[in-house]
Amino acid sequence: MKKVAILGSTGSIGKSTLDLIERSPDKFEITALTAAVNVDALADAARRTNARLAVIADESRLRDLEDALQGSGCQAAAGADSLVGAATGDSDLVMAAIVGCAGLRPTMAAVEAGKTVALANKEALVTAGDLMTEAAKTSGATLLPVDSEHNAIFQSLAGSRIDQVSRIILTASGGPFRTASAEAMRNATPAQAVAHPNWTMGAKISVDSATLMNKGLELIEAHYLFGLPSERIDILVHPQSVIHSLVEFIDGSVLAQLGSPDMRIPIAYALAWPERMPTPAQRLDLAAIARLDFGEPDLERFPALRLSREALEAGGSAPAALNAANEVAVATFLDGKISFPDISKLVDMALQENESPAPRSIEDVFEIDRKVRTDVTAMIEGRCA
Ligand SMILES: NC(=O)c1ccc[n+]([C@@H]2O[C@H](COP(=O)([O-])OP(=O)(O)OC[C@H]3O[C@@H](n4cnc5c(N)ncnc54)[C@H](OP(=O)(O)O)[C@@H]3O)[C@@H](O)[C@H]2O)c1
Repeated sequence: MKKVAILGSTGSIGKSTLDLIERSPDKFEITALTAAVNVDALADAARRTNARLAVIADESRLRDLEDALQGSGCQAAAGADSLVGAATGDSDLVMAAIVGCAGLRPTMAAVEAGKTVALANKEALVTAGDLMTEAAKTSGATLLPVDSEHNAIFQSLAGSRIDQVSRIILTASGGPFRTASAEAMRNATPAQAVAHPNWTMGAKISVDSATLMNKGLELIEAHYLFGLPSERIDILVHPQSVIHSLVEFIDGSVLAQLGSPDMRIPIAYALAWPERMPTPAQRLDLAAIARLDFGEPDLERFPALRLSREALEAGGSAPAALNAANEVAVATFLDGKISFPDISKLVDMALQENESPAPRSIEDVFEIDRKVRTDVTAMIEGRCA
């Protein structure tokens, strides 16, 4: 029995993880589940899976969680320290699936504790990449990529040495606005932006997929996971999301991982690693798909991708600043208060204003995050005033 703790168990990745685990009750045992505010879904999952610990980040909901778990035998806890407790407590694998920089502290704690961490929470690695990879080296933690692209690269590398790799190629579906005009993008609504053509995901990552910031964050994530510089990480638009990413080796061979667009495939790979496990994901029918298309990303209509590469190449505090600005801008767009193109404009302005030194601890990352959030909020208030 593999003991699993799921951080962000009520989200899209968290629920898919639970789905797989509940299909293999003889292989996995849930030790801890966490959520931000969603007491009902957290308590329901804790009861179904006989979890030992359920943590709600919002301390004001502890009483509700205790009530919902009464008689279940599952311990209820709340707050930031309890999230860290869930990440570092008894488990063989921690699924890091909180969205945004909010996941950094517990994810880092799991890494520092030397855990095997299935990493979905890309923002944690983007904001604290050097610190997290150093911490993993020191503690002996293993980072297993859950993002479908990085999981595909991990599978395609199949243990090859990174000096045998000439480049990696991250595929991008292009999102819901791949072929939209600049005019249509100016008028895009939150509902249109979250309607991803191939994947069903949480709201924040769906908007990131529409701006291509998601691919930008993945570019930075790939740099930290695989240790390759920006110029050896390419982006290829591939609308069908069948090839999840590719590795080109120094001899010209290219290996790729293919599959239907169902996050349960990469999640299962991380859960079962170094073995494999069955999933209910639809099998790939290439004859029915018949053709696969590829193209270059349009950096004019999708400036977030260019900004992400600039942040990666600038290094230091730039990736954390990029992420913080994006998180505020996306939340404000989802609230209907700014336009779709404003997201990238705000990120651009925040990067230009960012003068913070490189973070030397995660407290420094939180300081950069706080400062950029304040600055971007002020920019938005200035625009809306
Ligand atoms: N969805 C995908 O297909 C996909 C694919 C690749 C990578 N990822 C990455 O995986 C991560 C999760 O994405 P998602 O789509 O699953 O997000 P989601 O559906 O929005 O779920 C987010 C989870 O995090 C919890 N959470 C939110 N804010 C929190 C906070 N301040 N403190 C503690 N917990 C918090 C939520 O709890 P509540 O339910 O209580 O709000 C929920 O459990 C993201 O980093 C995303 O980029 C997702």
